[in-house]
Amino acid sequence: MNSLVLDSPAALAEEATLAALLRCCIREVAGPRGHVWPAPPYLLLRVGGELLRVRARGGAALRFDAPPERLVRGAWAPLSVADLVRLAATDLGDGNAEFAGQVAASRAALAAILEARPAATPPQDPWLASEQALVYGHPFHPSPKARGGDGAWLRYAPETHAEFPLRLLGVRADAVAQEGDASVLDLLGQAPPGYRLLPAHPWQLDLLAPGFGGELIDLGPGPTVVPTSSVRTVYSPDAGACLKFSLDVRITNCVRKNAWYELTGAVELTRRLAPAFAEVTARFPGTRWLPEPGYRSAAGHLEGLGVIVRASPWSVCSPGVTPVLAGAVDRPAVDPARWWAAYVEAVALPVLELYFTHGVVLEPHLQNVLVGLDYEGMPVEAVFRDLEGTKLVAGRHDLSGLPPRVAEALTYDAERGWARVVYCLLVNNLTEIAATLAPDDGTLRELWLIARGVLDRHAESLGRPLPLSDLLAGAPLPAKANLSVRWARAADRAAGYVPIANPLA
Ligand SMILES: Nc1ncnc2c1ncn2[C@@H]1O[C@H](COP(=O)(O)OP(=O)(O)OP(=O)(O)O)[C@@H](O)[C@H]1O
Ligand SMILES: [Mg+2]
Repeated sequence: MNSLVLDSPAALAEEATLAALLRCCIREVAGPRGHVWPAPPYLLLRVGGELLRVRARGGAALRFDAPPERLVRGAWAPLSVADLVRLAATDLGDGNAEFAGQVAASRAALAAILEARPAATPPQDPWLASEQALVYGHPFHPSPKARGGDGAWLRYAPETHAEFPLRLLGVRADAVAQEGDASVLDLLGQAPPGYRLLPAHPWQLDLLAPGFGGELIDLGPGPTVVPTSSVRTVYSPDAGACLKFSLDVRITNCVRKNAWYELTGAVELTRRLAPAFAEVTARFPGTRWLPEPGYRSAAGHLEGLGVIVRASPWSVCSPGVTPVLAGAVDRPAVDPARWWAAYVEAVALPVLELYFTHGVVLEPHLQNVLVGLDYEGMPVEAVFRDLEGTKLVAGRHDLSGLPPRVAEALTYDAERGWARVVYCLLVNNLTEIAATLAPDDGTLRELWLIARGVLDRHAESLGRPLPLSDLLAGAPLPAKANLSVRWARAADRAAGYVPIANPLA
């Protein structure tokens, strides 16, 4: 066969799209039905009544070493994305006419990224380069790269190292909506007298077409910004800060709009988290977080044009420490076991400390955590970000002074919060990092023994809280059901969990 054709962007996109969908099917379709059978080196599974097989390793992270196949009249034949969509639909029932289109759109977007990326110049800043390295996106999502709208997305895509100028707007003083400290926005340009400066994401401006007049004026292009991994959050060198915009586009499970209560909630959480993080950092000196001290918007388009200001990772890391997105971590040059122990300590301990001691639920998935690497490439700091996913445990904080909708959006009950912590930390984050570090499943088992030791020592110091004891005893892990939630066309917050094997057992 012609390897040139096999390695073409279209072929690679088909392969990666199939792999992501197959991971979802193993976890959410075949797994819960008892239709997955390990047959080393293969994993066998039944989906939609057909028998499939794939060479798999990496534990729950499911790394595939060869193309998956289906049994057709007694012989193994290649499995395609179209086949697997059809088979999954048979098991999931209740037709979803959009689903196949979303998977195909993700594959097309990935092919376009793979086509454009080799010719593009990555940012020199190693942190920004890592933000732009999530080429394949979420490994357990049926349409990880689907982006709504027309072809415009490519101009704003982090994966192709896009850079673009902000659009600057002027908001008449009486129509400015703002809370907290958003003053870095004023570094981006000059508004005429009687107006405040409001930067806008150019893509959002096209989508929203707000119409200009007395309250809102167009001041034209502004300074250049660099998109980070979430697409809608950009880094502005001029402001020295990250700016989290609304984008009326579905990216994985959500239309990325900053709701009014999230704008307020970010500022409120920044105030409340400061003392909690200060205590955690005193105990675990490598702990960092990215405050979101303020937002600004225009009253007439509060949610559509609301922009949240967020500290940049460089501003919180120690001198000589380089922040790197956890989702972009590669196998290190140093001993993987040593690297892993340092990573687990830097990332997991503060997350558990915040949950048990402070009643704070972080969302430490691979896109919300940055690891601070020292000169040797060893993890010495962990930076937690994204206050939209950060919650307070109900009953542990006095939220009585807040508008009810803001308080509600900031709160999780203890059980739901714990499921979120365990999913993000163990399933989304540590399981993937371990699979990245371990060249084989033997090494993987060693890594989990190390993690167990680290977590067990910390459990002791926390007084062995029951949920943590259950976890260390091998309770199944909750894995977020991204395929099921897309199939049901439900909101991300409605996403359920499916139990998967616990590698700490
Ligand atoms: N392993 C992963 N887990 C979760 N999200 C991932 C992962 N890999 C890639 N992603 C992508 O990262 C984004 C995560 O969304 P999330 O809601 O955390 O970010 P956001 O709130 O839009 O922005 P920000 O993180 O800048 O606050 C999505 O676009 C998702 O597809
Ligand atoms: Mg995020």
